[in-house]
This record gives sequence, structure tokens and C-alpha cells, in this order.
Amino acid sequence: MAILVTGGAGYIGSHTSVELLECGEDIVIVDNFSNSSPEVLEKIKEITGKDFKFYEADILDKESMDKIFKENDIEAVIHFAGFKAVGESVQKPIQYYTNNISGTLVLLDVMKKYNCKKIIFSSTATVYGSPKIVPVKEDFELHTESPYATTKLMIEKILQDVYTSDNDFSVVVLRYFNPIGAHKTGLIGEKPNGIPNNLMPYITQVAAGIREQLNVFGNDYDTPDGTGVRDYIHVVDLSLGHLKALEKARKEKGVNIYNLGTGIGYSVLDIVKAFEKVNNIEIKYVITDRRPGDVAMYYADPQKAKEELGWIATRDIDEMCKDSWNFTKKNM
Ligand code: UFG
Repeated sequence: MAILVTGGAGYIGSHTSVELLECGEDIVIVDNFSNSSPEVLEKIKEITGKDFKFYEADILDKESMDKIFKENDIEAVIHFAGFKAVGESVQKPIQYYTNNISGTLVLLDVMKKYNCKKIIFSSTATVYGSPKIVPVKEDFELHTESPYATTKLMIEKILQDVYTSDNDFSVVVLRYFNPIGAHKTGLIGEKPNGIPNNLMPYITQVAAGIREQLNVFGNDYDTPDGTGVRDYIHVVDLSLGHLKALEKARKEKGVNIYNLGTGIGYSVLDIVKAFEKVNNIEIKYVITDRRPGDVAMYYADPQKAKEELGWIATRDIDEMCKDSWNFTKKNM
């Protein structure tokens, strides 16, 4: 039996595919390359020395999804496919709702038809909105401030309803904090198109000389150095969390929700300093206005994932900065 990885050519999907293959799982990837490229699939094969089936298809395309399930014995789905840019979602809500929600509904419908009842879903820490206290626990109040976050929260609710209607389902929802870093080989990593929105891809582009300086969005937040604090997590640690979630889904029916973070908050300037130190490169920056919609500080309480999944992030901030730069250098 195989694990279907939707969005398996993407940033987190590709790293998770590598880890799945390396622990002997059989996988099938479906991706439409809307934010990735076919070379990633070759890189996954190069890293692992293993082959897998691939379908270039949109999860909204029911016929293609049906074909995948007809041609393969799919035991479980790890569902990454979706649009993920917070700012863009405000500009293009219809596309975000259609792609993320309708895509998931097509997937669930086909899963049900083929009696596949295990799903691991990529959610996000942005479903907590602006948390009143930190660290953030899974049972905190949920509040979304962008169409992107709303799609993730709606899908969480849809999955809960699917389970309520059919108690044979095993649903594991993973709420990611801020994934950065790349695979040790430097063969796969995050390669955004155009001007990066997120901190680490912007820093690596400054390091590469593509951008002149980093804009630090505000230094007057109520945080130790005034800049925003986040829980950065190495993408490989995050990927390993999916393997643990899969184990859980195999063992137990129900809906389980976990934060995947390190439990440590770093400020923007902490990240800049760590990057400069481990890579020996100066990162020029200027302090600019706050970015609308940004929250001062949040980081995870990852205790539940530790207790129930036996998962813990082990890669530190230096390793994250080192691996991010290694990937960028090799892929400029
Ligand atoms: N930042 C800068 N300059 C930049 C980019 C970011 O100062 O050029 C700051 C932000 O203000 C924030 C921190 O760096 O304080 C992190 O910003 P990111 O854009 O890297 O990450 P966010 O926390 O805003 O959001 C990210 C993803 C979302 C996801 C969320 C989950 O973009 O998709 O993490 O926590 F939902």
C-alpha cells in the first residue's frame, strides 16, 4: 500500500517525501507544479536513491484524482497541496477558497469512494490569530485574519465533520509554526518566485547579493529587542513530525491536532545574528514600518506532540541558518 502525498514537489512536501522514502514507505506524489518544479522530483530520487509514482494533476480535477486512487492502493494521504501566501490570499480570496477548500473536498470525496480513511493535514499556527499568551497550546481560541488562514481553519472543521459522520476516519491535523532550513544535501529547499514574503528566503537573497538589504518590519513591538518573535522550525524536523503523525493515524481513529514547533521564540534580529555568525556573511538591514497584520510574538507549546506522538524538534537555529544558506548557494 502507498501513501499519497499531495503537493509532494513543494517545500514541505518534498522534504516529507524524502523522509517517507528513507524509512521504506511506498509513496505516490500528485502535484500541479503551481509553486514547484519537476526538477524537485529528480532531486528526491537523487537523495533517496528510490523511485516513486508521480501524477501531474490538480487536486481539483476529480477525474485525475479518481484515476490515482484506481491505479494505486492508497492507504493514507498526507495533504500539503494548497496556496499558502497570506498577503496574496487577501488579494485573491476566491482563488484561495476554491483551490484550498474545493480541492480538499474533491480529495475527501475520492478517498471515501476508495475507502481510504487516514489523512494527515497541513494546517498552520496562523489559525491562532494574535494569541493573548504564549506559548500557544492546541486548545487556545482560534481566530483567523486572512483568507489563507480561514481556508486552513475551515478544512480543519470539514475534517472534524467527516470524522463525526464516519468514525472509521483517522485525521491528524498538524499546525506548523515557521518552517525554515533545507535538506542537508542542499538539493531541495525553499525557492520562492519573485520577492520573498518570508524572513529566511529574504535573508538568503540579501546574502546572495540579489537584494540589497533586509527590511526589518518594526522594532517597537513588546518583545525583548522590539522585533517580531516567531517559532522557527527546521523543515526536516517538521517533516519527521508527519511520519509520527502517520504512525498515530495507523494506530488510532479520531481527530488529533498537534502544534509542530520547537517551543523557542527568536526575534528577527536573533535570526539575522545567527545567520551572520554561522555563515560568516554580513546581512545589511534597515528598520522599517511594521507590516500590517503582523503579530508581535508567538511560539508553540509542543508538549502534546512530544507526549502523544513521541516527536520533538532537534535541529537548532544555527543548523537552520546553515542549511538555508547551503541550499540557496547551490541553487542560485
Ligand atoms: N519579517 C521582516 N522582514 C521581512 C520578512 C519578515 O522583518 O522581509 C519579519 C516579520 O515581520 C515577522 C517575522 O519576520 O516578525 C516572520 O515573518 P515571516 O513572513 O517569515 O512569517 P510569518 O510569521 O509572518 O508567517 C509565516 C508564513 C505563514 C504561516 C505562518 C505560521 O508566511 O504562511 O508563518 O506561523 F501561516
